[in-house]
Amino acid sequence: MPANINRQILLKSRPEGMPSLDNFELAQAPVPAPGDGEVLIRHRYLSLDPYMRGRMSAAKSYAKPAEVGQPMVGGTVGEIVTSRHPKFAAGDVVLGHGGWQDYTLSNGAGLRKLDPAVAPISTALGVLGMPGMTAYVGLLEIGQPKPGETVVVAAASGAVGSVVGQIARIKGCHAVGIAGGADKCRFVTAELGFDACLDHRASDLGKQLEAACPKGIDVYFENVGGAVQQAVWPLLNDFARVPVCGLIAQYNMTTPFPGPDMVSVLRKRLLVRGFIVSDFAAKQADFLREASECVRTGRLKYREHVTEGLENAPATFLGLLQGKNFGKTLVKIA
Ligand SMILES: NC(=O)c1ccc[n+]([C@@H]2O[C@H](COP(=O)([O-])OP(=O)(O)OC[C@H]3O[C@@H](n4cnc5c(N)ncnc54)[C@H](OP(=O)(O)O)[C@@H]3O)[C@@H](O)[C@H]2O)c1
Repeated sequence: MPANINRQILLKSRPEGMPSLDNFELAQAPVPAPGDGEVLIRHRYLSLDPYMRGRMSAAKSYAKPAEVGQPMVGGTVGEIVTSRHPKFAAGDVVLGHGGWQDYTLSNGAGLRKLDPAVAPISTALGVLGMPGMTAYVGLLEIGQPKPGETVVVAAASGAVGSVVGQIARIKGCHAVGIAGGADKCRFVTAELGFDACLDHRASDLGKQLEAACPKGIDVYFENVGGAVQQAVWPLLNDFARVPVCGLIAQYNMTTPFPGPDMVSVLRKRLLVRGFIVSDFAAKQADFLREASECVRTGRLKYREHVTEGLENAPATFLGLLQGKNFGKTLVKIA
């Protein structure tokens, strides 16, 4: 690719149901020049995350939609090529929100310098980034797990779920993962140290879950909704906590999924609380300190699913929505 070209993946159209490659367009623009107070960043990694499905839609949500004809939004790790900003120098590695493109300009707002000596820079988009922090605050602030309790999480080999189960183990809980397929389940137990992991495609998931959670479920970290939620719900104990983090199984449904049994919410006095990671911004320093130390000592493990090449971002994103990723999904751009 010529050095003066900025490749961009634009949102071409808004999907109905499951997105397709037709919703994206690869475009080229000149690499922009930074003005006073700006930096030019060359992206090294782009994060792909389930929330991007929401941004593709115009439906009202907690964040405004991506604009048709503009680069898709997304977290990025990159290197500053040129700086006209007093706080940044060429060569600094920064975490930002530069979107699906090779280069971006920034005035420094929202940029965080990374220290490559702490951990590989890609981890700032995964285990030490937004997904890791989501697991940390969702489980500890809302799930409030106590030693001996049973914590269940689906998408257990993924960016958020893998951290949820490992923190649950660190807190002395019985951690049960749910994941798509034998390979992921093996990874979740053998590598991440969960006590058990079940394949959500099994026809008898409810029965298997009952056997894996003999004392019922005290914390269900809701990552997927759909059929998994239906299997979990009857096993919730009195006063169980359900941090409602994500419902990826339902993001592409065109008709509403039958809702949870709200009578149980009343009868069992369940606390069901939705949250967005940014609600807990004040916890970021605690998270970074504790999680960085755990990653450094190997107590917190992570797996990355890295695709090479910006042009492969759309297909990789579609794969993420279908469970084809295995670990935190990233695109290596340079
Ligand atoms: N509230 C917040 O602030 C916040 C922040 C970050 C993420 N989230 C949410 O957390 C969840 C996990 O995100 P992530 O970034 O960690 O993604 P991820 O787990 O790395 O990747 C998504 C995974 O979802 C699973 N999945 C997809 N369709 C499914 C279905 N029908 N039934 C069961 N599992 C399905 C697949 O894993 P399997 O193959 O194992 O099924 C897929 O690999 C998502 O719902 C996301 O929206 C919320």
